[in-house]
Amino acid sequence: MDRPLVIAVDGPSGSGKGELCRRLAASRGLHLLDSGAIYRVLAFAAREAGLALFDEDSLVQEAAAMALSFSAEADGVHVLLGGRDVSREIRTEEAGLNASKVAALPRVRQALLQRQRDFRREPGLVADGRDMGTVVFPDAQVKIFLDASAEVRAQRRCSQLAAAGRECRYEEILADIRARDERDRNRPVAPLRPAPGALVIDSSALGIEQVLEKAAAHVGALGF
Ligand code: DC
Repeated sequence: MDRPLVIAVDGPSGSGKGELCRRLAASRGLHLLDSGAIYRVLAFAAREAGLALFDEDSLVQEAAAMALSFSAEADGVHVLLGGRDVSREIRTEEAGLNASKVAALPRVRQALLQRQRDFRREPGLVADGRDMGTVVFPDAQVKIFLDASAEVRAQRRCSQLAAAGRECRYEEILADIRARDERDRNRPVAPLRPAPGALVIDSSALGIEQVLEKAAAHVGALGF
């Protein structure tokens, strides 16, 4: 039997992946998996429980036990931990760096695999992450890798912070992005890289509409 459609979208943070995935899912009425939020919530829950972010055994237990759910609200998808809305807390720069640390641990990734695969349901799923097309859904019908230069991604992050009325220190943000890239691209397990057969889009000089157009054309060319 055919398995439900998966459009796997991988790439570094700031490449525009989140926005592309939201738009693709909304325009086609598909489910959406923000896998980065799962790693962010795990790191957040671990910190609250007083666990060290390198304590793999405890993190694996926490990964299996944590009561994580997503809730679609008018202003976007909210992330709940044990019923408590932690959407804001998990979106800080620090939470992203912490997520990157727990995500580097092989058994933690293994412990979160099934949770992610459970999102594959009819009428289909847009999966946003780093290893959607390589590890979590290697049989995804559509694979896209969205990239952009570290400088462009740092500028985009600064614009987001400015729009939210928050301070932006460009050099610090750029250094954080480079540190996280280094960890995500060079880890031994599920390193960030394009899946075989993925369409690679460099969004450095493209707006979201142009990225969406290329992605939609690719999905259409594959017959979906
Ligand atoms: O996409 P994001 O910024 O919310 O992801 C936070 C961190 O989680 C990122 O540094 C890498 C990690 N991550 C991962 O290793 N695998 C995924 N599928 C998604 C995120």
